[in-house]
Amino acid sequence: MSRSDTVELVYLVCAVCFIVALKGLSSPRGARVGNLVGAFGMVLAVGATFALPGLHRIGLIVVALAVGTAIGLPAARSVKMTAIPQMVAAFNGVGGAAAALVSLAEFDRSSAHAGIGTAAAVLFSTLVGAVSFTGSVVTFAKLQELMTGRPIVLPAQRLINATLGAAVVGLVVWGLAERSVLAAVLLAVVALALGVLFVLPVGGADVPVVISLLNSFTGLAVAATGAVLRTTLLIVAGTLVGASGTLLTRMMSQAMGRPLSNILFGAISATPTTASVSADVGDRAVRTGTVDDVAILLAYARRVVVVPGYGLAVAQAQHTVHELAGMLEARGVEVVYGIHPVAGRMPGHMNVLLAEANVPYEQLREMDDVNPQLPVTDVVLVVGANDVVNPAARDSPGSPIYGMPILNVDEARAVVFLKRSMRPGFAGIDNVLLYDPKTTMLFGDAKETLTALLTAVKNA
Ligand code: TAP
Repeated sequence: MSRSDTVELVYLVCAVCFIVALKGLSSPRGARVGNLVGAFGMVLAVGATFALPGLHRIGLIVVALAVGTAIGLPAARSVKMTAIPQMVAAFNGVGGAAAALVSLAEFDRSSAHAGIGTAAAVLFSTLVGAVSFTGSVVTFAKLQELMTGRPIVLPAQRLINATLGAAVVGLVVWGLAERSVLAAVLLAVVALALGVLFVLPVGGADVPVVISLLNSFTGLAVAATGAVLRTTLLIVAGTLVGASGTLLTRMMSQAMGRPLSNILFGAISATPTTASVSADVGDRAVRTGTVDDVAILLAYARRVVVVPGYGLAVAQAQHTVHELAGMLEARGVEVVYGIHPVAGRMPGHMNVLLAEANVPYEQLREMDDVNPQLPVTDVVLVVGANDVVNPAARDSPGSPIYGMPILNVDEARAVVFLKRSMRPGFAGIDNVLLYDPKTTMLFGDAKETLTALLTAVKNA
């Protein structure tokens, strides 16, 4: 068996590792092992590549590996869980840029004798990789709050998009017909602009969906680069990322109750309105409670549903909420957690957080299981959640979140919100439920409030 055959065989093992990794990552129980298997496959793939015959500039590759590891490893180890979407955006952007650059470099080397298939793969990878790069940079800036999270629509956005679209078509035809490297480079420049214009009109709450979509773009660009380099493993890995990113994007937009086209292009096609940004809350007062009042409410309830949201992650209150639930259970109260599919800032955010605090899986109930039980629930404790319980999603057709399925906590007998202020959630819209007579507000950091509640329930 030749050396390149052996490398191909190792690549096959790596591809199996990636598939096993994805399977593991699809459930909280298997995620840790899945991640390790994926990382093992990746190390094996990089190692095997060094054994490829005819590999040049090994020193340069080693330096690039060292720089990448020196940046990536500490960044991944130190990132806060709430900042993971930004990190995914940053890493994804780098992946897209790498796919585009590698394709361009290969084209520059071999365009004279490139077939039409190779030219098509180069142009595809350049276009999609470059869009993914600048798109990811803008999503990073939005999530890191380096710029406004609100949709930004340029005055002549449709015209600019149409012009850039026509330029893409022209450059692709030129690149294919003449195998022109210049056309490919110009295509990259136009695609960089397209990436920015693609993400600017997407509003804050929708940005995580765009990250997932850009992730699938990067996967497809990598697969095309694999076709250019004739590397089967890149084709397999890129296709896996492309397919899983597409599925995740679809699942997220379904969970938000909106078609993907509306998430991506809603702001461009919408007629400007300010009415949708704030719900009609009139000048109603808010009922603020004390920790002792709420402790009595909880201690004498029969059934309590805890609804965690992004604020639980910010406050890192998962252990404290678990402790409180345990204390209530010891008093005979039935406690379950109502998990909304897009609570937090990434898929499975609440599940991961609560699993970290060893909350039993069977206490985590999906939205569709919890909703029918809410009318017979005594107290809903909303811990750092807002949009996912906002009745505007159900009742206000003008609202930006209208159509998103929510946890109908307003149907419970009493609702307690743990948050620091009256500020809105990620979608930036008011929540009428905060003003509802059955709602009690407990202002403060969720962890501090829950700690105080623990003591108060003990004494109740
Ligand atoms: P949000 O609506 O963003 O509300 C979070 C609330 O937590 C805020 O109202 C904030 O109020 C409160 N908070 C922040 N820090 C806190 C702290 N230390 N202690 C107590 N409260 C704190 O969160 P949600 O209900 O989880 O909704 C998720 C949002 O993200 C939705 O709009 C969803 O569409 C969007 N989104 C999520 C995903 C995924 S996959 N999860 C994907 C796309 C979009 P204060 O500032 O007043 O404390």
